[in-house]
Amino acid sequence: KSVRVFAPATVANVVCGYDVLGFAVNAPGDEVIMKLTGGTGITLSKITGDDGKLPLDPEKNTVSASVKHYLDYIGQPDLGIDIELHKKMPIGSGLGSSSASTVAGLFAVNTLLDNLLNTKELVPFAMKGEELACGYGHADNVAPALMGGFVLIRSYTPLDIISLPFPENLHAAIVYPEVDVPTKDARQMIRSKVLLKDAVTQWGNVAGLVSGLFMNDYELIGRSMTDILVEPVRSILIPDFYQLRELAMDAGAIGFGISGSGPSVFALTKDAETAGKITKSLQQHLKDIAINSLSFVSEV
Ligand code: HSE
Repeated sequence: KSVRVFAPATVANVVCGYDVLGFAVNAPGDEVIMKLTGGTGITLSKITGDDGKLPLDPEKNTVSASVKHYLDYIGQPDLGIDIELHKKMPIGSGLGSSSASTVAGLFAVNTLLDNLLNTKELVPFAMKGEELACGYGHADNVAPALMGGFVLIRSYTPLDIISLPFPENLHAAIVYPEVDVPTKDARQMIRSKVLLKDAVTQWGNVAGLVSGLFMNDYELIGRSMTDILVEPVRSILIPDFYQLRELAMDAGAIGFGISGSGPSVFALTKDAETAGKITKSLQQHLKDIAINSLSFVSEV
C-alpha cells in the first residue's frame, strides 16, 4: 500500500497575528510518497530538492520524527514505513517549508492507516516537527497547511484552532529574497515583554483583521495588517523591506508584510493580476540591489 501526498506552503503571522494567524496557498508545497513496508521501523529512502540540507536520519528529520510520534500515539510504534520526501519549495524561506513536509508525512501515514485521526487531531503531531525544526512548536504554519484557508490559533493550551472565512478570489503575492534568515534566530531577536499600550494596539489589529475576513472588508483587512511588536525588529533582516512595502501598496496590495519569520514577504490582493504586478515590481527592485529572488502567485 502506498500514498502520495502534497502539502502547501503557508504564510504565518499575517502581519499582526504572531503565532496565532496563518493561511495556506495552493502552491508551492512539498510531496511525500509513503509505503507500508511489511517490516519494522521507519526508513527515509529518498529526499530530493533539498540540496543535501536535510538529515536522512529518521530521528532527526522532522517528517519521520513526527510520523514516529503519531505511531507511538496510536500504539503501533514499530510499524514498517518507508518515506520519500520531495521538496518543491525553498528551505528557510519563511513559507512554512518544514511544516509542508511534516504535514504531508502525517497526512500520508494517517491515510495509510484509514484515517484513524481527523485532520485537526494531526496538528499536535505536526507541532512536534516544528519544535524539532526551530525550537518551538508553533502552529500557525502547520494548522493552515493541514486545514487549508485562513486559520486562527485561539489558544495553545488547550489547543483551540478555528478555520476562518475569507473573501472569494483572495490572492497572495509572495516574494522570497534569497538571503538567510533562520526561524530560530528570527524568534530569538523578538523582545519577550511588551508594553500594555502596544498590546492594546496589536490585539485591536488582530481583531480588526479577523473581522475584515468575516465581513469581506478589504479596507479593514488592509488597515489591520500592521504590526508594532515583531515587524519593526525582523524587518531589518529583509533587504529594503519598507521600499518593498511601498512598491506593493502602490501596485494595489490590500496589505503587505513578512511571511512567517521571513525573509519572504507577501501581499494580499483582490485578484491574481494585481498579485502578478506586485511580484514583478518587487523582484525588479531586488534585482536592482543585486538580490536574487523567487516569486509565487497563489489563491489563498
Ligand atoms: N509564527 C512563527 C514566527 C512562524 O513568526 O516565528 C515561523 O514561520
